[in-house]
Amino acid sequence: MASPSHSHIIILFVLSLASASAWEVEKKTTYIVQVQHEAKPSIFPTHRHWYQSSLADTTASVIHTYQTVFHGFSARLSPAEAHKLHSLSHVITLIPEQVRQLHTTRSPQFLGLNTADRDGLLKETDFGSDLVIGVIDTGISPDSQSFNDRDLALPPPKWKGNCVAAKDFPPTSCNRKLIGARYFCAGYEATNGKMNDTLESRSPRDSDGHGTHTASIAAGRYVFPASTMGYARGMAAGMAPKARLAVYKVCWNAGCYDSDILAAFDAAVTDGVDVISLSVGGAVVPYHLDAIAVGAFGASEAGVFVSASAGNGGPGGLTVTNVAPWVTTVGAGTIDRDFPADVMLGNGKVIGGVSVYGGPGLTPSRLYPLVYAGSDGYSSSLCLEDSLDPKSVRGKIVVCDRGVNSRAAKGEVVKKAGGVGMILTNGPFDGEGLVADCHVLPATSVGAGGGDELRRYMSLASQLRSPATATIIFKGTRLGIKPAPKVASFSARGPNPESPEILKPDVIAPGLNILAAWPSTLAPSGVPSDERRSEFNILSGTSMACPHVSGLAALLKAAHPDWSPAAIRSALITTAYTLDNGGGPMLDESNANVSSVFDYGAGHVHPDSAINPGLVYDISTYDYVDFLCNSNYTSHNIRVITRNQASDCSGAKRAGHSGNLNYPSLSAVFQQYGKQHMSTHFIRTVTNVGDPNSLYTLTIAPPPGTEVTVEPDTLAFRRLGQKLNFLVRVQTRAVKLSPGSSTVKTGSIVWSDTKHTVTSPLVVTMQQPL
Ligand SMILES: *[C@@H]1O[C@H](CO)[C@@H](O)[C@H](O)[C@H]1NC(C)=O
Ligand SMILES: *[C@@H]1O[C@H](CO)[C@@H](O)[C@H](O)[C@H]1NC(C)=O
Ligand SMILES: *[C@@H]1O[C@H](CO)[C@@H](O)[C@H](O)[C@H]1NC(C)=O
Repeated sequence: MASPSHSHIIILFVLSLASASAWEVEKKTTYIVQVQHEAKPSIFPTHRHWYQSSLADTTASVIHTYQTVFHGFSARLSPAEAHKLHSLSHVITLIPEQVRQLHTTRSPQFLGLNTADRDGLLKETDFGSDLVIGVIDTGISPDSQSFNDRDLALPPPKWKGNCVAAKDFPPTSCNRKLIGARYFCAGYEATNGKMNDTLESRSPRDSDGHGTHTASIAAGRYVFPASTMGYARGMAAGMAPKARLAVYKVCWNAGCYDSDILAAFDAAVTDGVDVISLSVGGAVVPYHLDAIAVGAFGASEAGVFVSASAGNGGPGGLTVTNVAPWVTTVGAGTIDRDFPADVMLGNGKVIGGVSVYGGPGLTPSRLYPLVYAGSDGYSSSLCLEDSLDPKSVRGKIVVCDRGVNSRAAKGEVVKKAGGVGMILTNGPFDGEGLVADCHVLPATSVGAGGGDELRRYMSLASQLRSPATATIIFKGTRLGIKPAPKVASFSARGPNPESPEILKPDVIAPGLNILAAWPSTLAPSGVPSDERRSEFNILSGTSMACPHVSGLAALLKAAHPDWSPAAIRSALITTAYTLDNGGGPMLDESNANVSSVFDYGAGHVHPDSAINPGLVYDISTYDYVDFLCNSNYTSHNIRVITRNQASDCSGAKRAGHSGNLNYPSLSAVFQQYGKQHMSTHFIRTVTNVGDPNSLYTLTIAPPPGTEVTVEPDTLAFRRLGQKLNFLVRVQTRAVKLSPGSSTVKTGSIVWSDTKHTVTSPLVVTMQQPL
């Protein structure tokens, strides 16, 4: 018999173990667990039972199971539990969860195409009505006019999805337009605890506005008249007004969780969507650790086109996200519409600004005292909550710097302190890029140059002891702006941080000041105390650019049902344009300089040409596996992405390098290790989708300082669907570079017959190793 003191020691030991595991609870992380699903022992009735049994030693439970784009489940585990699970023979890998953010410029923590273009594609009645666009986002406000189902037939027979009803989302929320709606919050709640459903809707209903906006950009019906606060009045319509919508809500107040996003990909592909639109992103990590890349691979293998926003981290380089070569990555451009709201200073000088403020204005021809929130005695130039002293602000126009809190929230701070107006100024980082916001008081945004001028004026006035004054002149909506498009300042830029041989973003599409549907229960400014309501709202971000391409992809798929996702992307890339409406090279909004391929990829999408590209560069799943082999992914990691037994990479490696993926753009990256001459080659295959008998000839614009040869230099096709190969050889000489620096040269290769022009950008990067 053990002595009492001995059992005492045992109890103490057990207690200390218990407290160690309580401590570990704090460090739990959600993992997405990939398993060899075919290894399920028959004693388990379902995969879920089997997965739960793998967690028998833990307190964890299965969050989601995945069966279509991925095989496995998610669970919240301590590091020790994760380690143990990894050691089980049927477990292939554990992917740690990332939290993603929406790609609007609207809130700080989440950081048209013209009618003529689109009508070219829409002549046929019911065009695109068999296509389903899945929008993975913040849900939807089903009451919007943009989602009416007038004149639409029953959903296409292949559709297997459904409408998940909830308290504030009755089954009647869906119709022949909105044919599917689901929500995924188990991953969100596993980390954050049960959501407070007075603050957000535990249902497919959109309590943010972002998902309603993006869904209506992709596939909203024609609504007239549409405007917000009197701005942008006109016809509103999505890119594919007859396409059906299925929404998958994964984004909640604290972000969008990978385990839920992957569940949404899985459901969307099982349901039978044709296109997935994802205006969400996060950090760039290798593809086998990136749940979005993994989900998108499974979708693309099932023939589903995936477009994703590039991110709003611009204008700096290497900021592009969602960069996997099986995703179409969309940056943002400006459109030829703008909302001028100029600042007039007391000295008569005018500084250009933009705004969609639509409430009671300032008194015409009166000048108001001007005060800079960053001058002495103020805690913040950023107009953060409670940082302004009403005594110094009352009755004045307040100058606030952009950053940290949302632009509309700054207006609310100024208004609460008694300010009559606000001028938001860009810092050097934002440059001259301006975003029009739906402010709660008379307010406008000016660029970095305008901001400097404003502060110079104020400091001179203070030296002269004369009052600094100004007013804001709202000019409404202006159309026909030139030059347009430009690359939006915030649009994330290349080069591609994960695969420099794949040019990203792929293309740009409209993403600045886009009018689209909005929940009629929410304020357009996003400021909680704002009591205004509007059926439409103007938002900016690559979030808004992505669904333009999603809708366009649905139209292309409707015209060419047999095209793969890669063929659709190829059509968008090879027909994109790089000149603006003034005929000059497309500019960068941030600094008015000429943009480069790292800003816009192949250029701005051009729907009318994309529908009839002549040739496409197609890519199969096997080609992506070869690409991963040549990018030095291990067989194990390739298997995480492709789910299949990884093929032996030796064949792929013999066949070449990662730049040999049959991508419609070409990017060569040379390391200058003391070599004088460098060369590489690209093998490409084009498929004839134009006229059966066609003869394509070549025009090469070599990147400066390089020599480019292409063999053969003519391609004679005899039938549709015929594939022909060619070889591009690029030679260059070393250039003088300081260690660690690089230089980039751009050219193109263009195939044309009499009707089609098939353009591929060709980028050469030379890097000097450190
Ligand atoms: C949910 O949020 C509301 C509004 O902020 C608050 O009054 C309520 O106490 C919250 N409920 C819970 C359970 O936290
Ligand atoms: C823009 O162009 C000017 C003049 O061509 C150049 O000096 C400047 O460095 C460029 N700015 C950027 C950010 O590239
Ligand atoms: C893969 O590894 C080989 C051999 O080390 C190297 O030559 C090649 O540059 C690597 N490729 C990439 C894309 O990293």
